[in-house]
Amino acid sequence: MKLLVIGASGLVGSHLLAAAKQAGFETLGTARTAAADIRACQLGDQATIAALLEEFRPEVVACAAGFTWADGCEADPERSRQENLEQPLALSKLCAKQGVRFVYYSSAYVFDGVNGSYTEADAPRPVNVYGRHKAECERLIAEATGGDALILRLIHVWGEEAKGKNFVYQVSRANLAGDELRVSSIHSGNPTWAGDVATWTLGLLQRQAQGIWHLAGERPQLTRLAWAREIIQGLKGLGHVEKVRLLAQAAVDTAATPRPLASGLDTSKIQAFIPLVCRATYDLPASFR
Ligand SMILES: NC(=O)c1ccc[n+]([C@@H]2O[C@H](COP(=O)([O-])OP(=O)(O)OC[C@H]3O[C@@H](n4cnc5c(N)ncnc54)[C@H](OP(=O)(O)O)[C@@H]3O)[C@@H](O)[C@H]2O)c1
Repeated sequence: MKLLVIGASGLVGSHLLAAAKQAGFETLGTARTAAADIRACQLGDQATIAALLEEFRPEVVACAAGFTWADGCEADPERSRQENLEQPLALSKLCAKQGVRFVYYSSAYVFDGVNGSYTEADAPRPVNVYGRHKAECERLIAEATGGDALILRLIHVWGEEAKGKNFVYQVSRANLAGDELRVSSIHSGNPTWAGDVATWTLGLLQRQAQGIWHLAGERPQLTRLAWAREIIQGLKGLGHVEKVRLLAQAAVDTAATPRPLASGLDTSKIQAFIPLVCRATYDLPASFR
């Protein structure tokens, strides 16, 4: 299968690209900035994307690019609208026109976080700009592709990444420095390894699946604080000494951006279709040593 990954240098995209290569897919990756094996291409640059489709002729395009910083989206809703809604939607339309399958990564932030353990059948009810644009984009992509696109909702993704920004790196850096780290004891969701997201994505493509799927680790109710403790356990397993001081933060939304509290995803649907023992952070890959 020929796969074009847009956002191939990011956390989700880099794992997808690596897993696809390993599985024998023919791949091409793009990002905002060029890197080894990755071409520069702006998400909003329709002409360059059309030329790439013409040159590479992928069977599938996976969009793992967007403006993923929720606080940034709240401060600059127009940029969020462009990068999280208009541009991926235009890309999905271009793909539909050319008969290319489309994969869109969405987010548990489409939910309000009141009840937790959301299934694919639950109605989105976003509470912030990022969530609103992701939810609207999902709906319009489904419409534009006649329901053919794969819409994959993710939450609390972790794993090796060039920019070292996910929660495992944050806890690891604080631990190495012996810092205090304030972590929410009330926000919860499934920690999800990017490698598992990649395995499921490829499995869904190979099985010609369509529609919305929740791709997430096994514990939808794990609080951020419990997750931080688990990461420390994982770091200790790699030989680190525990130095960080975790401070429980129980206030609701001290920041300007409202965030869903219990936004965990129910994964019964994907686990029934493609069963997977998900990797947890008490078992960190050796690269985090
Ligand atoms: N990480 C999570 O916990 C999580 C949770 C739920 C949903 N998701 C969804 O999963 C997807 C991937 O997230 P991620 O965490 O992997 O993101 P990420 O690490 O921030 O990576 C984003 C990727 O997209 C590229 N990109 C960003 N803006 C672009 C633009 N305007 N034009 C071209 N390329 C652009 C980036 O390239 P540069 O590096 O060159 O800027 C990078 O390769 C997103 O749609 C996000 O909403 C992620």
